[in-house]
Amino acid sequence: MATAVVPKVYKNYINGEWVEARSGRAFENRNPANTDELVGMFPASTEEDVTAAVDAAKEGFKTWRLVPAPKRAEILFRAAELLVRRKEDMARDMTREMGKVLAETRGDVQEAIDMTYYMAGEGRRQFGQTAPSELANKFCMSIRQPLGICTMITPWNFPMAIPSWKIMPALILGNTVVFKPASDTPFSGYNLVQILIEAGVPRGVVNLITGSGSKVGVPLMGHPDVKLVSFTGSTEIGRTVSEVCAPQFKPCQLEMGGKNAITVLEDANLELAVDGAIWGGFGTTGQRCTAASRVIVHKKVYKEFVERFAARAKALKVGDGLDPSTEMGPCVSESQLKTVMEYTEIGKNEGAKLVAGGHRLEKGAYGRGWFHEPTIFADCDAKMRVAQEEIFGPVVSVIPCNDLDEAIEINNGVVYGLSASIYTRDVNRAFRAMRDLHTGIVYVNAPTIGAETHMPFGGVKQTGNGHREAAVACLDFYSEWKTIYVDYSDKLQRAQIDTASFGRISGD
Ligand code: UN1
Repeated sequence: MATAVVPKVYKNYINGEWVEARSGRAFENRNPANTDELVGMFPASTEEDVTAAVDAAKEGFKTWRLVPAPKRAEILFRAAELLVRRKEDMARDMTREMGKVLAETRGDVQEAIDMTYYMAGEGRRQFGQTAPSELANKFCMSIRQPLGICTMITPWNFPMAIPSWKIMPALILGNTVVFKPASDTPFSGYNLVQILIEAGVPRGVVNLITGSGSKVGVPLMGHPDVKLVSFTGSTEIGRTVSEVCAPQFKPCQLEMGGKNAITVLEDANLELAVDGAIWGGFGTTGQRCTAASRVIVHKKVYKEFVERFAARAKALKVGDGLDPSTEMGPCVSESQLKTVMEYTEIGKNEGAKLVAGGHRLEKGAYGRGWFHEPTIFADCDAKMRVAQEEIFGPVVSVIPCNDLDEAIEINNGVVYGLSASIYTRDVNRAFRAMRDLHTGIVYVNAPTIGAETHMPFGGVKQTGNGHREAAVACLDFYSEWKTIYVDYSDKLQRAQIDTASFGRISGD
């Protein structure tokens, strides 16, 4: 007789202990490539759990902020070493819960490794400024101070990399953390926290709490003891984050939508541009904020580009990301697949020309998952919805253009501004594009994806709210400057008034 497989039940991590949600309820995490597979059960937390996690982080902050930063760094360094050792297992867990192919989930864990080593290095930097005073016997300096409890609300498309972009800088600067991973990918969040625990993060310093945006996310970011919110996700939810934080003047960092374009000029290496459009458009099943969901192609090479691009897309092997021969995995969920199918209809109704894909894959094993064909619309007008709105799936819109000026206008003619790319061998036009493409990231002769952790990451317009993640840039978000003046003259000296009168111009 077959025995039922009991799913593994995971818990929240609050105040140094694994605990169930106070409600006692849990939600399912299923494999999007095979929904028969239950990856695990995770706590359906509510406001009571939020309160407990915030209280723990508040207590943890009292001591963590006083731990010397180079000592905090040792914990991060150990975490990075553990991630290196467990990379393969964690990549497999990630593919099972969100579907992207193993090469990419390995890359996701690698990005977390890179970020963790990088921020461990910041333990011995976090440089401030010292400057001469305008007064004698006075000293000026500035130092970084932690804010306190930081909360991270993270997406499912980079389930370990993006949390690491937020958690590691927060920790190295002396903040404590309440982390809410996306409900489609709580397992990778759990794995990351498990690593930090093993690396020696003290009680209360990192807290993990899973559950919905409305029951956990909103009360968490609105909690008066939470001092900072870092969010990556849709522009719609980002607006909610902004609104919840505004009355408390709480700093929030928002990383939201994109409608990134690759421009292909007539002198481009066409083979390279096609490679880039395939990787940028269909890597991670198009589910990246940085995905190349538009390709703007010069009329002189348009026909040839579209033919080659469509042929390559049709040949992509779609399947379970754990199979090494798979090139594109499923959509993360049924709702994401539905969005893709809706946009396919929208594109057809708008009169865009479907040159590849356009259908859900349902036959055989595909029927157990959320698979969709790599889909290309050609001959798009730049104003069509499929060329304007973020789809977050394997759908690319190709738009013809006459010259660089028009390409830049099309590139910039959307509400988002995360990443842009140009393929050309002409250095003059490449530099004009670098200057005029209105995005936070620009690539030359490479697709719109592939940012590295030691360079600033983020976008303009409705992609973000002005902050940058990663690199040294992110330190400014996770710390506050304190400027200190020490007067050792033993007398009252008034700045701007009692300044010395060396070398005055005669007659003054
Ligand atoms: C995202 O698209 O949500 O640059 C993050 C990239 C990755 C990160 C993407 N390193 O594509």
